[in-house]
Amino acid sequence: MENIKPMPKDEPSQDDPSSITQLDSWKDLVDHHKEMSCTTIPSLFKNDPKRFDNFHQKLEGLTLDYSKQRVSKDTIEKLCTLAKASDLESWRDQMFNGDRINTTENRAVLHTALRNKDLETLEVDSVDIVPEIRGTFEKMKSFTDSVRAEKKYTHIVNIGIGGSDLGPHMVAEALKPFSDAEITVHYVSNVDSSHLVETLENIDLNKTLFIITSKTFTTQETMCNARSAKELLQKALGKDDVGEHFVAATQNVEAAQKFGISEDKIFPIWDWVGGRYSLWSAIGLSFCISIGFDNFQKLLDGAYAMDKHFREAPLEKNIPVLLGLIGIWNRNFEGFEALGIIPYDQYLYFLPSHMQQLDMESNGKSVTRYGVPITDYETGPIILGQTGTDAQHAFFQSVHQGTDIIPCDFIFALKCQKPARGHHYKLLANAIAQTKALMDGQENQNPHKIFSGSRPTNTIVVDELDPYHLGMLIAMYEQKVFVQGIIWNINSFDQHGVELGKVLAKQILRDFGDKDFANEKDATEIDSSTAALMDMVVKTHLR
Ligand code: F6P
Repeated sequence: MENIKPMPKDEPSQDDPSSITQLDSWKDLVDHHKEMSCTTIPSLFKNDPKRFDNFHQKLEGLTLDYSKQRVSKDTIEKLCTLAKASDLESWRDQMFNGDRINTTENRAVLHTALRNKDLETLEVDSVDIVPEIRGTFEKMKSFTDSVRAEKKYTHIVNIGIGGSDLGPHMVAEALKPFSDAEITVHYVSNVDSSHLVETLENIDLNKTLFIITSKTFTTQETMCNARSAKELLQKALGKDDVGEHFVAATQNVEAAQKFGISEDKIFPIWDWVGGRYSLWSAIGLSFCISIGFDNFQKLLDGAYAMDKHFREAPLEKNIPVLLGLIGIWNRNFEGFEALGIIPYDQYLYFLPSHMQQLDMESNGKSVTRYGVPITDYETGPIILGQTGTDAQHAFFQSVHQGTDIIPCDFIFALKCQKPARGHHYKLLANAIAQTKALMDGQENQNPHKIFSGSRPTNTIVVDELDPYHLGMLIAMYEQKVFVQGIIWNINSFDQHGVELGKVLAKQILRDFGDKDFANEKDATEIDSSTAALMDMVVKTHLR
């Protein structure tokens, strides 16, 4: 079988020079793309009146329609051959089995274990993680039940950032119709004090519970917000002991205790849960309280259904695989740089932001998993997005007529959570119309009114935006990102690219005279722009 070098399990090689572009299946796709360039998406429909039947997949109440992509049956077959040549199935099994596929951090990748209710045992470092997962869920359930029953807290403030904020925030918003009306959940992430102060100004602090979500419990923004929240609370309540208002979800139990949170109020997570994949863990406690544990379980169950499908369905019928392969086709063969995520559902307002982190932090890489620079193919696309119909009145001009082609995923639910007088039909008519307009285009005498058309879209339809289908939807995108990372031969589970800025921020803070950063090294060399900008801050803040 034609393969790129598989990862040696114990010692990842740093010197594998092979590029995926040398695979026969890749070269075959390059040739195939030349043929496909002569065709358009509308002509594919003309030649195959049943194209939808042949280019969609369904899983329970979720449908992926990829018929409005410039792909033929041959394209899909060739992409599946590429997936096989990249050893996708073996990597997938390694992930589910708990192998350390996050090689740069020497970690297993097991967010899938959190949603696998049939899992009986799975060892990581000679420890069975299943009892730990079940025990934590038990603890979350009993805490959730008591908060919802007692109503001692009517406001929950989640303090976290990145994966400890975006995923939970997105789910809380998406599942608002399932939430307890007497408990409001707020999310504070930015180190900009306006975010925290504005949030706390408008709520009854006596009845507020803070959840500090940080896998590491060292993230600067989160720690700064947590400390300020504690101080503001002490001041507002006129007492030092505000411990009953704080709980934490973290791997760093010691640091959380040092902050003043007792062990019984610390909900553990583990190094095998990546930040952007952590909403399924105790990091999701905020929305778990809001929607109740049964709904939290349904979210996990939906994700598990997608995981099972991802593990078992043949590649050519496998929804996350198809989505991933179409993305590869668009990025590497069609040459499209971006991907739009356009949910036609107000409750999915934060989905594009979560997708941005999921996709760009996972696959925005330019070295292979072996550390070899990638010079002859592109990796993760730029993710942008907004809810429709608002997006239509914002950046869709460019999606229809811009010089760059931006493939888009249109996402909608058939059932509306808050129906009113024909709105939902209008919403869905707009979503469908956009996919058709992008495909068909328009000829015109007036050059300003020409739409080139043949612009690709996927449409993802769920019966209802309930916890189960939301779980399916998120897991679908997680596994899609996995598929692409394997084919691009990169490690989708580290994020070294976010470190440099953090280091320099600390050095600048040291230069600002912040005593918390007194031990930081000097910044290497301060250029004139950086110096001038720092000077402006010093003049307004520090003198
Ligand atoms: O932005 C980098 C990052 O490490 C993310 O991957 C992570 O989700 C976020 O910071 C927050 O990290 P933590 O949960 O440790 O505070």
